[in-house]
Amino acid sequence: ILCDIGVIGLSVMGRGLARNIADHGFQVAGFNRNPDVTRAVMEEEPNANLHPVFSLTELMASLKKPRRVLLMIKAGDPVDQMLDQLIPLMESGDMVLDGGNSFFADTRRRAERLSAHGLHYFGVGVSGGETGARFGPAIMPGGNREGYAQIAPILEAIAAKTEDGAPCCAYMGPDGAGHFVKMVHNGIEYADMQLIAESYLVLKTVGGFENHEIADLFAQWNTGELRSYLIGITADVLREADDLAEGDLVDHIEDAAGQKGTGRWTSIEALHQGIDLSMITGAVGARILSGDPVRTQADLGTPVVQLAQDRAAFAETVREGLYIGKLIAYAQGFAMLRDASARYEWSLDLGSIASVFRAGCIIQAALLGDIMAAFARNPDLSNLLLDDAFAARVRKGHPSLRRTAAQGICNGVPMPVMTSAVSYLDGLRGAPVGANLIQAQRDCFGAHTYRRTDREGVFHHEWGQSHER
Ligand code: 6PG
Repeated sequence: ILCDIGVIGLSVMGRGLARNIADHGFQVAGFNRNPDVTRAVMEEEPNANLHPVFSLTELMASLKKPRRVLLMIKAGDPVDQMLDQLIPLMESGDMVLDGGNSFFADTRRRAERLSAHGLHYFGVGVSGGETGARFGPAIMPGGNREGYAQIAPILEAIAAKTEDGAPCCAYMGPDGAGHFVKMVHNGIEYADMQLIAESYLVLKTVGGFENHEIADLFAQWNTGELRSYLIGITADVLREADDLAEGDLVDHIEDAAGQKGTGRWTSIEALHQGIDLSMITGAVGARILSGDPVRTQADLGTPVVQLAQDRAAFAETVREGLYIGKLIAYAQGFAMLRDASARYEWSLDLGSIASVFRAGCIIQAALLGDIMAAFARNPDLSNLLLDDAFAARVRKGHPSLRRTAAQGICNGVPMPVMTSAVSYLDGLRGAPVGANLIQAQRDCFGAHTYRRTDREGVFHHEWGQSHER
């Protein structure tokens, strides 16, 4: 039998997706450059629809035409090297899908390269980790629209399904659109995780809550407007007993966060685009600082902690503050997507992206249903915080965000992302941001000119300077 698709790369994500596709009735050829891995995957969980192949030539011969090949290999140079090998083996109309966390600009370049050979190239964002890959990830495919029809049946079959049965997979847009959306997903993931970490620390430090109490709070929060995958696993994580020492595992984990880089990409791209992504950038910075060896070496003063008097009221403030912060983080991420859509001429459907994020992926949250509704009301919404329902929720909840951030700050808990949320909110609502003074300074030292509030035109002033440079 000829196979419907070939999967190249059978480590955790690759084998999960290969089995998922096979479970949905498609014939899959599985290839890993190490034949022992290929054999191990086949023995570990035999599947009549999953067929081992041991060379790229054998893989090509085993596929129906036009051929479809899904790369599940390490992002970066390995993808280009694999394409060097695949291109001579493929024919016009064949299709390569890259399901790794590739940088979207690489995907744009590769799409162009393959199209010169008459081949389709799809950059496919896949989220949901190991379990997601095996049983239903969120999938963000980008490539040419005609090509999508050929892979839609497979991708939509294996994708996670929302509670109303919709597949968490939709055509995102041309060339790098899918990988870009996945990158922003990861940026939001960073902000979301950091907001949760700040909430946990403030509950612990200022609220005086124990891990198991915080776990109970998170579990309870997970039944309301904060309901999300990350809140749910946080409750579980906080309850986990250590198997090597007495107490909770979380207390024995080093206070230094890792990162593979996708959050950082989001932040760098936002700066390129000229979009304020302060919360995601703050979260990237927080991870970087967490691992800085200088961190524990300096005596810089420690504030005296004032415990919250009413713990229940304090927990409720943190809950609402976290929710408002989360909402603002998603608003920043979607504002970036909106800008990229115009910049790269992708015509991204933001409502459809919110829909895809609703299940399977790491940032799945009840909030995404509301985001979908906001874009359904106004597909051209330039910022989610301009939507009436979101604006009303922020008007009601912003004092909690402010109090949570302030309590952390006053008691020595770093709150880089909550405080960024507050500043973004104040900037966006039109509060003075001091830019008048910055313009005056620029004009004073460099004749950079300024605009006035009371008349049209561009002005320069001869400033009286008593300070010499
Ligand atoms: C997902 C995740 C995943 C990512 C990890 C690790 O959507 O399944 O985003 O793609 O690799 O979350 O990211 P960091 O190592 O950068 O934290």
